[in-house]
Amino acid sequence: MSDSNRPTVVIGVTGCVAIYKTCEVIRLLQKRGVRAKVIMTQHACGFIDPTMFRSLTREPVAVGLFDDPSDPIHHISLAKEADVFAIVPCTVNVIAKIACGIADDLLTTTALATIAPIVIAPAANVNMYEARVSKENRDRLRARGVRMVEAESGYLACGDEGRGRMAEPADIVEAICAELGMSRDLEGKKVLVTAGPTVEPVDPVRYLSNRSSGKMGFEIAKAAARRGAEVFLVTGPVALGDPAGVETVRVETACEMLDAVERRFEEVDIAVFAAAVADMRPATPASRKLKKGSDADALARIELVENPDILATMAHRKSRQVVVGFAAETDDVVENARRKLRSKGADYIVANFVGEGGAFDADDNEVVVVGADGDRSYPRLPKAAVADALFDCILGDR
Ligand code: PMT
Repeated sequence: MSDSNRPTVVIGVTGCVAIYKTCEVIRLLQKRGVRAKVIMTQHACGFIDPTMFRSLTREPVAVGLFDDPSDPIHHISLAKEADVFAIVPCTVNVIAKIACGIADDLLTTTALATIAPIVIAPAANVNMYEARVSKENRDRLRARGVRMVEAESGYLACGDEGRGRMAEPADIVEAICAELGMSRDLEGKKVLVTAGPTVEPVDPVRYLSNRSSGKMGFEIAKAAARRGAEVFLVTGPVALGDPAGVETVRVETACEMLDAVERRFEEVDIAVFAAAVADMRPATPASRKLKKGSDADALARIELVENPDILATMAHRKSRQVVVGFAAETDDVVENARRKLRSKGADYIVANFVGEGGAFDADDNEVVVVGADGDRSYPRLPKAAVADALFDCILGDR
């Protein structure tokens, strides 16, 4: 994945009236957590000003091969950036050029240079679309592995009726997401996720906590939402904004986190406990700030009591829910995770290596998913990819 957080789709836009639907394709992709970057042909700029796509994507829009002085080999960098290269809409002319390997502008050179999967959504007048040569060109590209989202029949902009109207944005987005490995396989499911640290007050200004940033839990919540689930995220204090389309509850302490989890647990299908919950809390937090001098004794001897174990509590109450815990380990990672699997009653424990590179606050993570039937190890991956791997695991087993 080229962007550490989000998959990137480079969208080539050619000159055709269906271009207005490209805006909706970009919006739908963004809702699913996908980053879109646009390349336009000169003819496309005759239909829509690049400002429209620049505003929608909040990314520069590329048009000419040599327009960007900071990037002298722009078609190669765009080709490498793409996790999927999509051409929406694609004229019969551009399809013909790509089928023949013609690379005479930024869009077609990028199409030739990329090794990413290619998705094409053609649009044309019915006679141009049904022309034998156009069909042959589409067939040639399909035979080379290009995913063609065929045009539909209907009333065309030129006034004719017939095949040639570009497919609906939702269908094009499904095709792109399928190439990205982002299907809607959690549609109809409810997922609960805990994330971040808990903070346990010592006095009004001091607390016990840990270094969790919430990134892992937030990526899990985002992945579940992308894959169609209704998602409830309960997070301790973190510097991350609420993920789009996720009901987010912010708490401070372990007891508040348990309370928020209990409110939702009954109704969910999958619960993932990625939070780094403080095991202990000060028994009686002081109501005023403790002073170094006069309260030195109290500060030196803070009495701690055990926090509720949220994962174990919920796992022992589970009926149909799949319950997933995390384990931050430095050594004997899999053995410790297996022990936690049994003691906490979870269906899976995701063991992350917190040694070199770390799991806390990093953008990537190296995990082993330990389940009753065995382990699955993954290389160090962006946390977004770890989240998807976890759901692939859960769904693959059921
Ligand atoms: O937030 P990041 O910076 O992205 O870092 C991610 C992470 C390293 C925090 C995350 O991937 C992780 O490993 N979370 C769990 C860390 C941890 O506290 O492990 P543990 O061994 O203490 O707890 C095991 C499991 O029990 C966890 O699922 C935890 O949520 C749960 N637990 C623990 C204690 C407690 N009182 N209640 C719990 O529910």
